[in-house]
Amino acid sequence: MYKIAVIPGDGTGPEVVTQGLRVLEKVSKIHGFSFETKMFDFGGDRYLKTGKTVDAHDIADLKQYSAIYLGAIGHPDVKPGILEQDILLKIRFDLDQYINLRPIKLYNKAFCPLKDKTEEDIDFVVVRENSEGLYKGLGEFKNKDTVDEVALQISYNTRKGVERCIRYAFEYTRKRNKRKTLTLCGKTNVLTYAWGLWQRVFNQVAAEYPDIKTDYAHVDATTMWFVKNPEWFDVIVTDNMFGDIITDLGAMVQGGMGIAAGGNINPQGVSMFEPIGGSAPKYTGKNVINPLAAICAVAMMLETLGEKAAAENIENAVIKITQTKLSSLSAGKMGYSTSEVGDLVIENLAQ
Ligand code: IPM
Ligand code: MN
Repeated sequence: MYKIAVIPGDGTGPEVVTQGLRVLEKVSKIHGFSFETKMFDFGGDRYLKTGKTVDAHDIADLKQYSAIYLGAIGHPDVKPGILEQDILLKIRFDLDQYINLRPIKLYNKAFCPLKDKTEEDIDFVVVRENSEGLYKGLGEFKNKDTVDEVALQISYNTRKGVERCIRYAFEYTRKRNKRKTLTLCGKTNVLTYAWGLWQRVFNQVAAEYPDIKTDYAHVDATTMWFVKNPEWFDVIVTDNMFGDIITDLGAMVQGGMGIAAGGNINPQGVSMFEPIGGSAPKYTGKNVINPLAAICAVAMMLETLGEKAAAENIENAVIKITQTKLSSLSAGKMGYSTSEVGDLVIENLAQ
């Protein structure tokens, strides 16, 4: 019996989570596992009413679950930073979800903005460090509000933090068993402290994985290759900030935010799965947002929980309807409503 903590969150989060849970319900019957859900109302609306975000008690509570399923966090009436820091990043940090796993896979070449690229060309995974780097929040203002003001924002990289991420990436590349190539994406030519450490640890760990080919790309060049030669990539490992940036580009080449899912993984603890697209306030409540990213997040959650057949079943149904039914992956242009796309996935699951 899996215990799933559900955080529908803000904007279109609740709409897409509803479809994800319908699909979860259906595959649980097909594949013979059971689950229970508990809803958590963290998000902008609760914050505006009560001033509450996520506290130590909530974190202790979340630790009791098998996994967390998140819709979106972000509210137009709340100043940027509050909900992101005190809900999303707080859960990632306090549950030590030190990997952000973001698969970039094109399901239908018609939805790829790149000319002449096919489904075979775009199939790679970004392993983003998820607990350190610039996201650590270290820094200060000096001489604030004067002409001599200096703002420091420090990238914090520990050997332990870097090593566990790189190890995870090597293990993942081995398990994935595709091109068996792991690319370190960094900026060793300028950010010599942070990337000096990453490069040294990467080389040391690589020696333990003779079966894995290694490569290195600067982050600026990586964005170029994503567009020019995405077929070069198998698994990419990078820090928190670069991972954030390159995975938005990755989402676009795989067909857009409507299809991009990610997992915030603590391999020894409680992980959290989410569509990476955000709360999309302008589409809220219209039943037009694409729920496939949220449905793919359910598949990632099941994969992590060990329900591989159920995860594959969902992915295959998503591939099928993406290839044969939807006219677009964008909100309002799919040819179907949010709930109808949920119906299509359910109808196309193998019984
Ligand atoms: C993401 C988002 C978050 C991040 C924001 C909302 C804090 O952009 O999940 O990629 O920067 O990690
Ligand atoms: Mn992001």
